[in-house]
Amino acid sequence: MPTLLHLDSSPRHGSVSRKISGEFAETWRKTHPEGTYVYRDLAAAPVPHVDDAQIKVMHRLEAEGVRDLEATREAARTPEEAASWAVTWPLIEELLAADTILLGVPMYNFSVASTFKAWFDRVLIAPLIADPATGEGPLSGKKVVVASARGGAYGPGTPRHGFDYQEPYLKAALGMVGLATDLTFLHAELTKSEHVPRLFQFRELAATSYATALDGARTHGEA
Ligand SMILES: Cc1cc2nc3c(=O)[nH]c(=O)nc-3n(C[C@H](O)[C@H](O)[C@H](O)COP(=O)(O)O)c2cc1C
Repeated sequence: MPTLLHLDSSPRHGSVSRKISGEFAETWRKTHPEGTYVYRDLAAAPVPHVDDAQIKVMHRLEAEGVRDLEATREAARTPEEAASWAVTWPLIEELLAADTILLGVPMYNFSVASTFKAWFDRVLIAPLIADPATGEGPLSGKKVVVASARGGAYGPGTPRHGFDYQEPYLKAALGMVGLATDLTFLHAELTKSEHVPRLFQFRELAATSYATALDGARTHGEA
């Protein structure tokens, strides 16, 4: 039975990234009525920032070259490490158990929201890194869909072309853990044309971009 892990990270009522990820999730759940659906709202229930205790565990795993996931699960040594690892390990188990990972991500300052980054910093640990020789790792083979919304536009010919650090960043970070082989981005652009007067002229473009992202969510959700 397939499992979908769905994360959202926008705190905004009326969030566009949530609408796109929601469309994907709804389609996926209709397509896979027997599947398991796991939802995590990183804005409503933020993951605490990575702390000294987790970094101590991470350093030990790196120093000892630990790849075995059972050993990783048991890697905390002190009460502080155990408390921090008790936050992190269930998040990693959610990732390991998922066949499809759906990430709802608003663009903030050309990258991701800090609620998303806090989750990412906890879960991307050394034993999950893909073997550079084979490109394979414990997370290989999973499908990843990123539902993103951004106030502006970043395509060729736009004034901010080249300013999208979100997609390349996610490609690099997800690729490090073998999650970039089946990776789809569904971007809705120009969402600020709703409330910024100088962008009103781009409302049609925004509507088309949103409709295309929703279409993509339905198409990929059916797969
Ligand atoms: C803190 C903050 C930073 C933002 N930075 C950018 C940015 O760098 N580029 C951009 O195009 N839009 C930016 N925006 C606009 C959001 O990307 C836009 O509102 C988007 O729709 C947010 O996703 P959501 O609708 O899912 O909340 C920013 C918004 C906020 C609140």
